[in-house]
Amino acid sequence: MAKVLAINGSPNAQGNTAQLLAAILAECTAAGHDTEVYQAGGRAVRGCLGCGACWDTPGKCVQDDWVNELYGKMKAADAILIGSPTYFADVTAEIKAVIDRVGFVSRADGHTMARKIGAAVCAVRRAGAIHVFDTINHFFLINEMVVPGSSYWNLGIGLEPGDVQEDAEGLQTMKRLGENLNWLLGKLS
Ligand SMILES: Cc1cc2nc3c(=O)[nH]c(=O)nc-3n(C[C@H](O)[C@H](O)[C@H](O)COP(=O)(O)O)c2cc1C
Repeated sequence: MAKVLAINGSPNAQGNTAQLLAAILAECTAAGHDTEVYQAGGRAVRGCLGCGACWDTPGKCVQDDWVNELYGKMKAADAILIGSPTYFADVTAEIKAVIDRVGFVSRADGHTMARKIGAAVCAVRRAGAIHVFDTINHFFLINEMVVPGSSYWNLGIGLEPGDVQEDAEGLQTMKRLGENLNWLLGKLS
């Protein structure tokens, strides 16, 4: 049984991003994996200070807030989903803070993200989701993570919370991503 961690970067804990993540996690749960959602969006956070203190205290950011807690969960996970709504064609500020800070902390801690599975998930009203997808995948790929694909890029279309339920292709993309994630977890175990 593998651990699958889903990070919701939207301040809407029950919004479109959360619902897309849930569609993937439903597949993982059905396959017997352990799943957890971590609510990152909406929490106060600062970006990376660029101070380099993480190289002196491996596994810990000098700003001792929820990002350190989340890093512990990411380190323990076999697969990590990072979900974000599209905010001006990019990830939310909370997800950018996680990317920058966990990016440095994990490298200073012995490249702990290497060979975990990573998948990006984006909610979007109209345009910019591909840039969100790219931002998150840049994090996965520079950290030596393995990225499964789906039948489309992993995005769901909607404005108000719940609108993604009307996006049949988006939901199908999430379902297939969950299946591919399970397949890959089986191959890598
Ligand atoms: C500050 C802000 C910026 C946004 N920028 C974009 C954008 O660039 N492109 C777009 O299509 N939708 C944009 N949206 C709409 C959200 O991406 C969309 O409503 C999404 O489904 C919200 O997901 P959530 O329910 O998980 O919060 C923006 C919304 C907000 C609040």
